[in-house]
Amino acid sequence: MIATRFTELVGCVVPIQQAGMGAAAPPELAAAVSQAGALGMLGTARAGLTAATLADLLEQVRLLTDKPFGVNFIVAPIFLSGTSTRPPLDLKCIEIAARAAKVVEFFYGEPERRLVEMVHAGGALACWQVGSREEAVAAARAGCDFVVAQGVEAGGHVRGTIPTMTLLSEVIAAVDMPVLAAGGIGTGQAMAAALAAGADGVRVGTRFVAAAEAPCIRSTSPP
Ligand SMILES: Cc1cc2nc3c(=O)[nH]c(=O)nc-3n(C[C@H](O)[C@H](O)[C@H](O)COP(=O)(O)O)c2cc1C
Repeated sequence: MIATRFTELVGCVVPIQQAGMGAAAPPELAAAVSQAGALGMLGTARAGLTAATLADLLEQVRLLTDKPFGVNFIVAPIFLSGTSTRPPLDLKCIEIAARAAKVVEFFYGEPERRLVEMVHAGGALACWQVGSREEAVAAARAGCDFVVAQGVEAGGHVRGTIPTMTLLSEVIAAVDMPVLAAGGIGTGQAMAAALAAGADGVRVGTRFVAAAEAPCIRSTSPP
């Protein structure tokens, strides 16, 4: 067990956040990670998400663990202006997630105070995954409780343009809140390096895709 500002804030005992990864982060994975002492995250970037299907996914997590878990949302680039190429976020989904989860997290759009306030009103902590120092400062100004600094080594949706460790030190210097490092971290050594560099925890995505609870691995063995 390693206590950091992140574990104390969120109420977990291992300073690891499993990345929300759309349908690759189902209730089974989020619950297993939380159950093991880290912060599991339910992915919502999946086909057919509605307030009703999200409520069902949240209930599935809750049936599998009573530990803190989070919910991840991909935000349309310009959330409020309606000029996005992505479908707009269903704000009802954020309200439901904030009432059910310990953390509600956003990625991709500019940090938006209205979304953060909605999360806090529901009783959850707000997080923004950022790809630059400037975005981290914007997340702090929007009222986020912690940020994830995503470096260019990250898998999946990548916003970072510089190496994880470089961005991490820039973000730590720029904001006064827990900072997680994301991108290319899949071993205990890499986690130790990030913690030694000042991170309050690490966010791991690709490594969790190989977990039995993620729906991505097909067995090659005969049944
Ligand atoms: C398969 C996959 C899907 C992803 N989908 C999302 C997503 O829906 N939302 C999100 O915030 N990040 C997503 N990401 C990025 C992760 O949040 C995180 O930044 C990244 O996985 C960290 O780097 P790593 O994969 O090297 O651990 C995804 C990553 C992967 C590997």
